[in-house]
Amino acid sequence: TPKTKIALLPGDGIGPEVTEQAIKVMDAVAERFDQHFEYCHADVGAIAIDRHGSPLPEETLEACLNADAVFFGAIGHPKYDNDPSAKVRPEQGLLQLRKSLGLYANIRPVTTYEKLLHLSPLREDRIKGTDMVIFRELTGGIYFGEKNTAEDGQSAYDTCSYQVDEIDRITRLAFEQAMLRRRKVTLVDKANVLETSRLWRRAVQAIAPEYPEVELDFMFVDNAAMQLIQYPSQFDVILTSNMFGDILSDEASVLAGSMGLLPSASVGVHTSMFEPIHGSFPQAAGQDIANPMAAILSAAMLVESLGMTEAAKSIRTTVQYVLEKGIGTPELKPNIVYGCSKIGDLIAHLVADPEEEILV
Ligand code: IPM
Ligand code: MN
Repeated sequence: TPKTKIALLPGDGIGPEVTEQAIKVMDAVAERFDQHFEYCHADVGAIAIDRHGSPLPEETLEACLNADAVFFGAIGHPKYDNDPSAKVRPEQGLLQLRKSLGLYANIRPVTTYEKLLHLSPLREDRIKGTDMVIFRELTGGIYFGEKNTAEDGQSAYDTCSYQVDEIDRITRLAFEQAMLRRRKVTLVDKANVLETSRLWRRAVQAIAPEYPEVELDFMFVDNAAMQLIQYPSQFDVILTSNMFGDILSDEASVLAGSMGLLPSASVGVHTSMFEPIHGSFPQAAGQDIANPMAAILSAAMLVESLGMTEAAKSIRTTVQYVLEKGIGTPELKPNIVYGCSKIGDLIAHLVADPEEEILV
């Protein structure tokens, strides 16, 4: 069987333990669908600073460039949190990785589960039926523009700029995805104020005719922030720039009831990276209480990107099945509480043998 190389970057906090569960599930689908995954472990984030003096060591980048796909756990450590201006920070590892691998589109699906609607702080009838995916541009805009602080410390600037080709490539991905879904794209911007937003509108409008079946809407970001909690089920595909996408995707994550459920993919020019959207959750590290489902669902996106559509589907239906059975990690307040590792075992087991049922 052909070998697929996967770089594993477990990172900090709960990163390693949720990554371990994702591996169990990837191994289970590999077995069932006759594939072979070869893993290569590498350090990133605070642990990489401790071990190698850099949040993204050369050998880690090498491992990613040599891989068919990258799986990323989480980064961040409290010892850096109180000093946002520290010279070396774990987050730099992530930003450098995005830039070096050319990960231009961050894709974050937000799915709600009937059984978990009550966990959201929003009213159940408002979030019911919500199923959207955010396409956030990831290697441009204000995150990567020229920036500086004046020597006297009295002024600073960050530049937001975009090239049409940077907008075009993510726009096509978003429209392709919309074709597989409810065929609606909402471009979120601030075109009433920003030049870059006006550029986005023009570029997206120029591509839209290639997808005549997709309805294209425009929404200002302030309004979108409100609509996301007022009437979230209206959204299908949200397309937006780097910083707006950063903010809106955190906001949207509340709809699902737990950060522990949301996966993401960052699509790159050469390779793609898959990671749960949650952070390193240091308070929970090593306690076996972290929810591995976001990591496991990220693994589903990973295998899907390798063409293993059936495997991805099987992982998703299994997660849903487990949730419907009332099984979950503590933050889901389930009828039956399982630890991180036991959830991983259960999902891997069910994925390996779909005839199996949970008897509770
Ligand atoms: C995210 C994070 C990162 C971002 C940070 C850690 C740099 O918030 O992945 O959304 O702002 O992109
Ligand atoms: Mn963020």
